[in-house]
Amino acid sequence: MATGRRPFFCGNWKLNGSIAESLALATDVRNGVSTLRDVDVAVSPSFTALYAVAKRLEDGPVTVAAQDCFWEEKGAFTGEVAPAQLVDVGCKHVIIGHSERRQLFGELDAAVNLKARAALRAGLSPIICVGETLAERDAGETIGRVQAQLDAALVDIDDAGLERVVIAYEPVWAIGTGRNATPAQAEEVHRFIRGRIGTRSASVAAAIRILYGGSVKPDNIADLLAQEDVDGGLVGGASLSAPSFIQIVQAAHGLQAAHGTQATKG
Ligand code: PGA
Repeated sequence: MATGRRPFFCGNWKLNGSIAESLALATDVRNGVSTLRDVDVAVSPSFTALYAVAKRLEDGPVTVAAQDCFWEEKGAFTGEVAPAQLVDVGCKHVIIGHSERRQLFGELDAAVNLKARAALRAGLSPIICVGETLAERDAGETIGRVQAQLDAALVDIDDAGLERVVIAYEPVWAIGTGRNATPAQAEEVHRFIRGRIGTRSASVAAAIRILYGGSVKPDNIADLLAQEDVDGGLVGGASLSAPSFIQIVQAAHGLQAAHGTQATKG
């Protein structure tokens, strides 16, 4: 975490929760983080609970992210949801290119780019996920894979758009496995991503938030956040329990307080 970038945490609830359960979790999260003014927090319920959760969190500090979107605005696309529809239900962000979408639903880099551009056009902030598989890491291809995903995702996004993008580095082997990347492994890739963005714009690279995702827990977040280029987390399993998600956010707040910083809103 560096001064000048507000930490950001998004709880990715994946395919979990009725409307009532989602409302209860969202309310607990809001109540637990509402005094932590130096950290940005979002939750990402299933599509079915987005509207109710967004209404419940309206005007509060916690924002709402969808887990996916389509790139067309309307038409004969059965089952798809347009970015403007997500804005309509109260979303501020949308997760794009999560490894589960890439691996289980065949989502390709080109689709990730189309979705990110459509999200930006609609006024959403895309949280674009990149990350290598274990086989790619073992083959020494981590940086190459992340570079390819990042470059493809950002095609035809100008600097004004890039300023509204959040990147999530999520090594596939760390997601839901209980095996997080070490802080040094995370930092190596985060630093690479920031440098890569810096080849386009130094100011955007300095401001863009790069989240780590993959088995983030209350007991490993502080070491991850101690890294210069780790600006927060995309949190799956540990975000399904309000106390553990709140503890994760509190860790960032504690570090901010220790730095004595009041980073400006990014
Ligand atoms: P996890 O999931 O925290 O359960 O590993 C992270 C993610 O998939 O975004």
